[in-house]
Amino acid sequence: MTRREFLVGTAAACATMRARATTNAGGVSTLPHVDMSKALGEHAAAKGILFGTALGVGPLKDPAYADLVARQCTIGVSENALKWAALRPAPDRYDFGAGDYCFQFLSSHGMKYRGHTLVWELALPTWFHNTVNAGNAKAMMLDHISVVVRHYAGKMHSWDVVNEAIELNDGRPDGLKNTPWLQMVGPEYIEMAFHAAHEADPKAMLTYNENWLEPESWAETKRQATVALLTNLKKKGVPVHGLGIQSHLFAETVVGGPHFARFLDEVADLGLAILITEMDIRDQHLGGSVETRDQAVAQKYYDYLSFMLQRKAVKVVLTWGLSNRYTWISEHNPRPDGSPVRPLPYDADLKPTPAWSAVAAAFDQASER
Ligand code: G3I
Repeated sequence: MTRREFLVGTAAACATMRARATTNAGGVSTLPHVDMSKALGEHAAAKGILFGTALGVGPLKDPAYADLVARQCTIGVSENALKWAALRPAPDRYDFGAGDYCFQFLSSHGMKYRGHTLVWELALPTWFHNTVNAGNAKAMMLDHISVVVRHYAGKMHSWDVVNEAIELNDGRPDGLKNTPWLQMVGPEYIEMAFHAAHEADPKAMLTYNENWLEPESWAETKRQATVALLTNLKKKGVPVHGLGIQSHLFAETVVGGPHFARFLDEVADLGLAILITEMDIRDQHLGGSVETRDQAVAQKYYDYLSFMLQRKAVKVVLTWGLSNRYTWISEHNPRPDGSPVRPLPYDADLKPTPAWSAVAAAFDQASER
């Protein structure tokens, strides 16, 4: 299915969704009642699940927001602080300032830390393309992984070792994206990266992180390429321990169908953990009042999380930001009507949105892991 057909389907999905809105005739939410005195992290922990969010130094310097994160979450992931662009001001230098700031915040609250991401074709420093070439790319990649992972050795819950390495449109039989790493090191760059990360920190869970795996209708070929990659890595004894499913959804994205279900079971059957690593739900294509949009977003959180948590392999759930005050979507994907986006469990005033109750309800109904 092309993206255009997907968007056409979107309009239809919107209509259905308005019909299925999570409110009854009186506009009262039909989501299960939840105990709002308990934090989301507590609702999750009761089922053996970690709940957390993406962190940045800027938002953490907002005391009210930092308190909210510390109250609601049990794990945090670096949104940008541990990408090459932030870590590598120069080819021979490392700057752990932002990464350590996030670590200090988390460890001071007894929270776990996820690292994102050691190998990706984006968020590379300005010097990268003039300095890294086929002659030194492998050494640069392995040195980077070794230095960065050793810096947090024994302190990191998990690492996204490789991020978004599959792109079917690049036309390769293995579905791999034609990234600078693939061009300069070869397809083995992925297994090399996992071996290097494991050698540097044998205790950390090592994950492959990918996007656009969730839509039932048009992501099947990507899911199959992802399972093939993971199966091949496991067959070779590569130390990959989990799959990160980013879960950047639209409120109208149709998820939770039989194809996605089979995919999750295939991944679990490989003995891999499944992590929801970057969840947010966009209301870009929704019209109507803020209340109507919020209810539709909440319904999608509830439906998606309820579906995912049916699998005991899902033990970690992170949103990509906790409040609409700090979301990448405001800058990268604003609403066509210019009104503020509302993809997260807290609004810009740090008040819980209906999505908060939806997430808590999904945890409450999940079975213990
Ligand atoms: O740090 C520079 C700053 O010095 C400069 O003044 C400023 C203005 O241009 O840019 C700052 O860099 C920005 C960086 O975020 C840190 O804020 C980049 O321009 C901006 O492109 C970058 O966006 C991040 C994006 O990944 C690319 O790395 C988003 O915040 C982040 O939410 C997004 O996250 C990705 C995941 O890593 C992977 N999955 C998809 C997800 C959303 O795109």
